[in-house]
Amino acid sequence: MLLENKVAIITGGARGIGKGIAIKFASEGCKVAIVDISLKDARGTRAELKKTGADALAIECDVTVEKQVKNAVEKVIGKFGTVDIMINNAGAAGPAIPSRRCPRRPGTGPSRSTSKASSFSANLSCR
Ligand SMILES: NC(=O)c1ccc[n+]([C@@H]2O[C@H](COP(=O)([O-])OP(=O)(O)OC[C@H]3O[C@@H](n4cnc5c(N)ncnc54)[C@H](O)[C@@H]3O)[C@@H](O)[C@H]2O)c1
Repeated sequence: MLLENKVAIITGGARGIGKGIAIKFASEGCKVAIVDISLKDARGTRAELKKTGADALAIECDVTVEKQVKNAVEKVIGKFGTVDIMINNAGAAGPAIPSRRCPRRPGTGPSRSTSKASSFSANLSCR
């Protein structure tokens, strides 16, 4: 198995693409932390993974709030001892905006909170 005994955090792992990544990683022997704003959905995904024999954790966290990301990383380290892989999948793009109204400067507008959230997660899990 490719990821035997590795530990991955997957933000937005309760649903959609993140859930797909969680299922694939778990099938490769990875311990998976589902970090999602919806605890109910995260628990549902963890339950599905557990049925396959995978080691998984469900954590409620809004990735746009640095303190919550820090707590989530600490919980994962508390349970699994380390973080090997960080998948910054959760999007926080906000409402759709017609392209003619999108800001032209990079690093502003809807992409900003997603980028900020990804950098919280990457920085905190590397510490
Ligand atoms: N599906 C696509 O076609 C597509 C295309 C381009 C980019 N993306 C990006 O890929 C990522 C996943 O897309 P998807 O289609 O699986 O989305 P989805 O809506 O099916 O799932 C997103 C998951 O992220 C969680 N989430 C949302 N906001 C969060 C937050 N602030 N903190 C923590 N968790 C949060 C949701 O509860 C959900 O479980 C997103 O970042 C999206 O912008 C998707």
